[in-house]
Amino acid sequence: MNRIEVLRKYIDEIILNMTDVEERRCAYMHLYGVAQSCTLIALKRGENAELATMAGMLHDIYSYAKMDTKEHAHKGSILAREILQTLSITNDDETKIICDAIYNHSEKELIHSQFDEILKDADVFQHCLYNPMFEIKPHEKNRYEKLKFEFGIA
Ligand SMILES: [Fe+2]
Repeated sequence: MNRIEVLRKYIDEIILNMTDVEERRCAYMHLYGVAQSCTLIALKRGENAELATMAGMLHDIYSYAKMDTKEHAHKGSILAREILQTLSITNDDETKIICDAIYNHSEKELIHSQFDEILKDADVFQHCLYNPMFEIKPHEKNRYEKLKFEFGIA
């Protein structure tokens, strides 16, 4: 099994243990959706698609595992590190790249590293692509417009 699938197996277990069925549906949708958007954006930008996909799968796991979104980016980066170390599927450098992106992903108004920006953009992409008839949230508009332009759909 490749390491993205090893990670998914672990994350699926956490999601399956969620008691609220509607939240469980959101967790699957959002984590798999962001992971897929991470893949797309990383491939487009020539960044590491494997690590980006893994960051997408892990980025909100804290919120879903604990049902608590407060400080979930910072706390989530600690939980992601624990998961990656438990699974032994990344080296120290890779773990840092993934966990730094998760740590920074809530700060959508700031620009971080190229890799960190993939996760932030993928988070926005998934929200906006979930239902194209929903109104785009004001704080996601700017990134969404830039993404559409980047992908030639603006
Ligand atoms: Fe998210």
